[in-house]
Amino acid sequence: MKQLTIQSSQRNYPIVMEAGLRFHVKKWLNKKYSSILIITDDQIADKYLQDVAGSLDNEQIYSCIVPSGEASKSIEQYYKLQTKAIGSGLDRKSLIIALGGGVIGDLGGFVAATFMRGIDYIQMPTTILAHDSSVGGKVAINHESGKNLIGCFYPPAAVLYDTETLESLPYREVRSGYAEILKEGLISDNRLSEELLAFSLKQLSSDQLENHLEAGIKVKANIVEEDEKESGVRKYLNLGHTLGHALEATLGYGKITHGEAVANGMLFALHVSEDVKGVELPFNKLYNWMKINEYPIVDIEEERIAKLIKSMKSDKKSVSGHIQMVLLNKVGEPAVENLDDSSVEAYIRTYIERMKKL
Ligand SMILES: NC(=O)c1ccc[n+]([C@@H]2O[C@H](COP(=O)([O-])OP(=O)(O)OC[C@H]3O[C@@H](n4cnc5c(N)ncnc54)[C@H](O)[C@@H]3O)[C@@H](O)[C@H]2O)c1
Ligand SMILES: [Zn+2]
Repeated sequence: MKQLTIQSSQRNYPIVMEAGLRFHVKKWLNKKYSSILIITDDQIADKYLQDVAGSLDNEQIYSCIVPSGEASKSIEQYYKLQTKAIGSGLDRKSLIIALGGGVIGDLGGFVAATFMRGIDYIQMPTTILAHDSSVGGKVAINHESGKNLIGCFYPPAAVLYDTETLESLPYREVRSGYAEILKEGLISDNRLSEELLAFSLKQLSSDQLENHLEAGIKVKANIVEEDEKESGVRKYLNLGHTLGHALEATLGYGKITHGEAVANGMLFALHVSEDVKGVELPFNKLYNWMKINEYPIVDIEEERIAKLIKSMKSDKKSVSGHIQMVLLNKVGEPAVENLDDSSVEAYIRTYIERMKKL
């Protein structure tokens, strides 16, 4: 078992990582809850919902299964869950358990944050990517104009990570999650990123996975403890997300996974960093790693450039019409830069040329 504690302004909460943890959830409840609502999705329910429900001895346990996928982070789904919570008689002493990937964590967390002005919730991540999303208390749903536009900071009561649940993840989701671990390496630690970039995900053992998850969670935990509300260093976690989010939005949500989009965004961020900072970065290594691990490498067509720029400008990170990007002075040393749209457009063009030569 691995455990660490996160200190946030509202509360301190444990992150516990252990194989088979879903059979022992009760042990981690630090108070008696009047009722419990488990929120999960239809890919996870058959596999793990009964295990979690069966590990609780509460008399009033309810569950709600939402369709899997990003589309569930919607106002309609949010409203249905509030209706379910009200209809089931949840009160201010109730608990919500978000059992799933980042979609369920963000959605279930936002329901908990706003139900009767906020009740406790526990994150039970079931994807690799959710090692990132379950820590730090950012919860949100999407608006049709953009991702995560409706949300708040609301720390969970605990993060209970049963690593055994990761065994049923499809390879595509393994790949998606590893992009965020690599991001944590690139912004903080040359050793972790070197190790990851030399690594084929198809040879991944469960020990290696646990070590990588632990390393990633530590990076995230240190950053969110220092800057809970993203006024400073927390922005570094957005490496690869400026172009990444724009790719997700312009290709259509679900076409590529969040992590696949972030991997493409990181490649672009390294390209821009090399020019802005006048340094050499592991651009080719990242490109080869993406190839070996079968990340889709997005071909940016001329017609798409204007849409991408528009999308990057409407990102909630952008300030006064500038596009905000996280760049690297070197691996392990990130910096936030606000670039005007004409320079970003020029960088997209030189990036397209560079990619053609690879
Ligand atoms: N709050 C944050 O700080 C933060 C950080 C990063 C990402 N996010 C959000 O996280 C979301 C992406 O999360 P995700 O990649 O986990 O997506 P997801 O929740 O959609 O899960 C990916 C897919 O895997 C399936 N799945 C989940 N667990 C499984 C398991 N154990 N076995 C088999 N299949 C399983 C799901 O049904 C889904 O189809 C995005 O909405 C993103 O905005 C939030
Ligand atoms: Zn992300």
